[in-house]
Amino acid sequence: MQRISDILPLREQRRKWQIDGKVIGFVPTMGNLHQGHLQLVKEAKKVCDVVVVSIFVNPMQFGPSEDLDAYPRTLEQDSQYLEELGVDCLFTPRAKDIYARGLEQQTFVEVPGISYMICGASRPGHFRGVATIVCKLFNMVQPNHAFFGEKDFQQLQVIKAMVQDLSMNLKIHGVPTVREADGLAMSSRNGYLTESERKVAPILYQSMLKLSEQIVAGRRDFRKLINEHSLTLYNSGFKTDYIEIRSADTLLQPGHEDTELVILAAAFLGKTRLIDNIPVSLE
Ligand code: PAJ
Repeated sequence: MQRISDILPLREQRRKWQIDGKVIGFVPTMGNLHQGHLQLVKEAKKVCDVVVVSIFVNPMQFGPSEDLDAYPRTLEQDSQYLEELGVDCLFTPRAKDIYARGLEQQTFVEVPGISYMICGASRPGHFRGVATIVCKLFNMVQPNHAFFGEKDFQQLQVIKAMVQDLSMNLKIHGVPTVREADGLAMSSRNGYLTESERKVAPILYQSMLKLSEQIVAGRRDFRKLINEHSLTLYNSGFKTDYIEIRSADTLLQPGHEDTELVILAAAFLGKTRLIDNIPVSLE
């Protein structure tokens, strides 16, 4: 596996692959890799001849009071995992190259509407940071396929909208959420949980599963259901940021005609913000 930090050698490698007719897959990450990330790599390997993974903890998508400095950085371990999976190139750019003119001066990409709701309402500017870095990484790697987790469902929708709106020439793949044996969605942020919080954490997913069963069973009093589940979570020690039942296509409030829904939730356990989502099909 090649490890590249500079943009010029990356472009040079990309050019060689292009000449050889290789189909290029790309998995952008912020590192501290777990089985969720590795699943994206495995999917990429199925579809593509060569796979590039990037690790870059992107300052532009963190709010001023968020965990940019504390975010876990485990490059050597990550590199070993990727090597074992047969990744062709690990791209680890530096912030000074990515944001050469400084964050204040940085041209940005913003997908309106969808970026401002749900997680975007709780984390202003977050999806602008995500769309901008992903656009920049796409310009550097120029992949034919890119792979994102459904774990970050709204992020996936933002990226798909950006690719469509800016006529980008690549295919975006969504990969189902990989979970721990007890149902907790894998996340780099799970490492922040204390031992006792870790025991409580799967209740978020259990509560969402129960909610989906209630909807499938015919309940349509969504506001009441959400309040009931927020209370259950509160009694277990969570502080709910949001629980939302939305149309899976648009992430807008569902209408009577919508049959594909998604439950999205974010909740704090102590200082750790957990997010999760599950699809609900009414067909
Ligand atoms: P990061 O949180 O490192 O996640 C990288 C990719 O892994 C994302 O597409 C995310 O949805 C996916 N992922 C994380 N946990 C997963 C799980 N349990 N199952 C399946 N996929 C999972 O998301 C980001 O980084 C950044 O916002 C990024 C897109 C790299 C832009 O900076």
